[in-house]
Amino acid sequence: MRVVIDCDDAAIDLKKVIAAHLEKKGVEVTDLDYLGSHPGAYYPEIGYNLALKIQDGSFERGILICGTGLGMAMIANKVRGVYAGVCHDVFSAERLRKSNDAQVLTMGARVIGPELAKTIVSAWLESEFQGGGSQPKVDQMRALEKKSFENNQ
Ligand code: RB5
Repeated sequence: MRVVIDCDDAAIDLKKVIAAHLEKKGVEVTDLDYLGSHPGAYYPEIGYNLALKIQDGSFERGILICGTGLGMAMIANKVRGVYAGVCHDVFSAERLRKSNDAQVLTMGARVIGPELAKTIVSAWLESEFQGGGSQPKVDQMRALEKKSFENNQ
């Protein structure tokens, strides 16, 4: 599985911790380091840049970290076909995959510490979409997304 990660200025240290955690687990992780090439960039363009790489299939999963995780989730969800959720607990991280089939996990470096963040990332990575009763709900979300993009573009 190819995982991509990035963050804004509020989460540089946590991003490094998570990238090292993934490498230690043997997961192939790419740090886009958008801030490195665009100093002073705000979270919307950083999150948008990563979400496009999920949309085009370059990566299967993405992790976005900012101060709260909120802004990153909001912008990633603006990209068609990309689904993101903020998780600061392990149960939600599992459900984000199992129930919601989201490819992007967001977290807030000002909300949780590194050990909980590592556990959340592991739980999310090890969980897969379960289909079943969640399938028609995810299908409905995709249908409404299609309608929204087609009506408003
Ligand atoms: C800081 O720029 C803060 O607004 C950002 O990191 C994030 O928490 C936004 O949702």
